[in-house]
Amino acid sequence: MQAEQAMAQVLVQGDLRPCTRLLLPLLLAATAVSAVASPAERDLYALSKLKSSLLSRSARNSTSLADWDMIKSSSHYYYHCNFSGITCDATNGHRVVAINLTGVPLPGGVLPAEISLLDALSSLTVAGCSSLSGPMPASLSSMPLLRRLNLSVNNLAGPFPSPPPDAAAAAYFPSLEVLDVYNNNFLGPLPPLGGSRLLHHLHLGGNYFTGSIPEAYGDMEGLVYLGLQANSLSGHVPPSLSRLRRLREIYLGYYNSFDGGISPEFCELDALVLLDMSSCGLTGIGGGGRTP
Ligand SMILES: *[C@@H]1O[C@H](CO)[C@@H](O)[C@H](O)[C@H]1NC(C)=O
Ligand SMILES: *[C@@H]1O[C@H](CO)[C@@H](O)[C@H](O)[C@H]1NC(C)=O
Ligand SMILES: *[C@@H]1O[C@H](CO)[C@@H](O)[C@H](O)[C@H]1NC(C)=O
Ligand SMILES: *[C@@H]1O[C@H](CO)[C@@H](O)[C@H](O)[C@H]1NC(C)=O
Repeated sequence: MQAEQAMAQVLVQGDLRPCTRLLLPLLLAATAVSAVASPAERDLYALSKLKSSLLSRSARNSTSLADWDMIKSSSHYYYHCNFSGITCDATNGHRVVAINLTGVPLPGGVLPAEISLLDALSSLTVAGCSSLSGPMPASLSSMPLLRRLNLSVNNLAGPFPSPPPDAAAAAYFPSLEVLDVYNNNFLGPLPPLGGSRLLHHLHLGGNYFTGSIPEAYGDMEGLVYLGLQANSLSGHVPPSLSRLRRLREIYLGYYNSFDGGISPEFCELDALVLLDMSSCGLTGIGGGGRTP
């Protein structure tokens, strides 16, 4: 709702002034934007917010996203589907289904909350975009169809968004299969992803997460890859992880400092081919983990 209010406000202020044809209905009904804007119009609005946030510190100079031409988009239906890094679904109302910005320099750029207006989005990659910063918008965690979220190798910071207190566990990243936030500056507790039964690749390594590994991580039945290395984790490694029968690779080492050993149940992880716990204080089975 907040995003929609902001949308109305920006339109009224004339941020998108040239977009009169496509967005005129919005200007006329700023109080009921969601009822009036078509899904494609909302996608376009969200992309305009995305562009201005990603380029917030370098807007005037940057050649990044130069082909994201908001003016042309406002008068050519679905023109935004041709923007670099954008994929639309040709069969279903030309909704934006994937964004892949890999290696685009976005110094000081941030991700806007309005990104969640892209409610058909299935894959979001903004990776290795030198010095993308700021927090991860909490609104990402409720995007209904988001299956793949890859924000690796950036400078995102602050706590990882947690679910709203009243939300059902299943409403938190409801469709997530791949989460890669490797190598950012997230801190605080690990995200409460235990309810994410579809998740198969989870990489939270190379951040500043603290506290212990949640017991509930043993509920992520589909997990094949779990990277928690190079954080500031502590406590016991929960024996519940031995329930992850599909797990092939688990990385726990570097900078983390766990107590105790690895529970013998880990021997039951038939699929496991790589257990890496180099220099994280653990003893017990294994111990011969390879370095990544
Ligand atoms: C824009 O470019 C000029 C000249 O290259 C540079 O001095 C200035 O700092 C740049 N501004 C930003 C916001 O990057
Ligand atoms: C996308 O670009 C192609 C080639 O430049 C053009 O033919 C097509 O009309 C464009 N599509 C839209 C929706 O603007
Ligand atoms: C994103 O683009 C990069 C190259 O620019 C490619 O290597 C990568 O596979 C793409 N990822 C997705 C999810 O499409
Ligand atoms: C995340 O994106 C980067 C850059 O496109 C890529 O190298 C990496 O493999 C991706 N991670 C996953 C899990 O696909």
